[in-house]
Amino acid sequence: MKRTIILLAIGAFVATGCFTKNAPKTTVASTKNYTEAELEKGHTIFTGSCNKCHKYKEPAQYSKQKWTKVLPSMIKKAKLSAEDGEVLTAWVMAHAK
Ligand code: HEC
Repeated sequence: MKRTIILLAIGAFVATGCFTKNAPKTTVASTKNYTEAELEKGHTIFTGSCNKCHKYKEPAQYSKQKWTKVLPSMIKKAKLSAEDGEVLTAWVMAHAK
């Protein structure tokens, strides 16, 4: 029993560790598959929240790698909920360079 728990713990660590290394919680790249409608919600959030401090930075302007670095702090700046941040991230990633 104990061994199972340890193995599960290691498994969970390995499974999440690779993707979330050095990343605060809001940056967790979602593995969820979004529907078109959900992605469209991400677009709406982008349109509503991402031109308040600067002009729109279009997803296609940057690589996914760059977005992975930039988005978490912008999601924080835009004060989005975790859920909104995730769907926004999914939309941006779907349209990144
Ligand atoms: C509260 C103000 C504010 C909001 C809201 C905001 N940003 Fe920004 N953004 C900044 C500032 C300031 C910079 C430039 C300095 C920096 O990189 O932090 C910036 C820079 C950027 C950059 C360029 C980063 C680089 O390194 O070239 C991108 C891309 C970006 N924002 C995307 C977004 C997106 C997407 C959103 C919506 C989720 C957003 N921003 C919302 C203030 C904001």
